[in-house]
Amino acid sequence: MTKIIRVDRNNPEIELIDFAAKVIREGGLVAFPTETVYGIGANSFDEEAVKKIFMVKGRPQDNPLIVHIAELEQIYDLVEEIPQKAKILMEKFWPGPLTLIFKKSQKVPYVNTAGMDTVAIRMPSDTIAHLLIKRAKVPISAPSANVSGKPSPTDASHVVEDLDGKVDIIIDGGKCDFGVESTVLDLTEKMPVVLRPGAVTLEMLKEVIGNVEVDPSLLKKPKGNLKPKSPGMKYKHYSPNAEVYIVKGHLKKVVKKIQELTEEQLKYGKKVGIMATVQTSTQYKKGEIIVVGDRNRPETIAKNLFAVLRQFDKKGVDVIFAESFEYNNIGLAIMNRLEKAAGYKEISAEGELI
Ligand code: TXA
Ligand code: MG
Repeated sequence: MTKIIRVDRNNPEIELIDFAAKVIREGGLVAFPTETVYGIGANSFDEEAVKKIFMVKGRPQDNPLIVHIAELEQIYDLVEEIPQKAKILMEKFWPGPLTLIFKKSQKVPYVNTAGMDTVAIRMPSDTIAHLLIKRAKVPISAPSANVSGKPSPTDASHVVEDLDGKVDIIIDGGKCDFGVESTVLDLTEKMPVVLRPGAVTLEMLKEVIGNVEVDPSLLKKPKGNLKPKSPGMKYKHYSPNAEVYIVKGHLKKVVKKIQELTEEQLKYGKKVGIMATVQTSTQYKKGEIIVVGDRNRPETIAKNLFAVLRQFDKKGVDVIFAESFEYNNIGLAIMNRLEKAAGYKEISAEGELI
């Protein structure tokens, strides 16, 4: 049986947090909100508990987990060394949506790192996540709280959909602030490399530590020789049941193309979903139209993206046409998630399949 506990984000009830923290300490699984997406957590030092995470998510064994901490002191137990650039980034962005990869200490069980000698660490800023880790008195390993391959959960109801009956507790703290998972930055080589774009953007990182590269496999269809450095990025991800197509080009042409594509699919008897924006939604007349956010406030698009993909599933659409966004700032994270949801299927507004 899964217990669903409602906790007030602005003023978390400590007795409820302590109840969940005890379950973590005793080897149980607790799904909890963070500022990015919901996570499914276990005591990082309890190998059996961590193994259970992989089982309930249906997660491939070679995909390592992020270890979440509440206080800076906790990191010394977990890593071999802290490079200078990491210190600067921790100072600037922790707590917050930035995960850093370090060389791991012997104390971190290999089950967390999928056998790798590096460990991903993040300090969430969400009050519930912070208190839960603090009161559990252990670091918490937590992947996103979805069944592997599905869009990450940004609301407790999504976690219930995927994991009810499979975890001990789901803490319901409402909607997550950012809506896309944390930025993952590898600091174990000379040049820092973004393995997964997120709300701490490439531009923000460069401003603080200078040169930063982006893993070239991120925004391209995986080919044999282009293997992502972050094991998780190679899997099919964020996928609703429908086929997703991203329509690219100038916005006016994109809208026109989506209208044409929708007509065509309706003729075939398909149920069509359109992922529109505040700026375009009234121009669509047919299909199931959902507004993902405001182009002038791209953070709203990031926040709603996964929820909208799940909404389309609820409506039972066969195909989704999504407008595209700029590949800069938070747009990089949005396009990365969208391309994965689409399996990199893109249609140019001029006509041909890219
Ligand atoms: O925002 C987040 O990061 C959320 C919340 C719950 O904190 N968590 C999350 O975890 O997104 P997950 O497991 O869904 O994604 C972790 C990503 C995966 O792509 C994984 O391969 C990568 O981080 N990763 C973890 N450890 C790594 C390591 N040692 N080296 C390279 N990539 C690593
Ligand atoms: Mg995930």
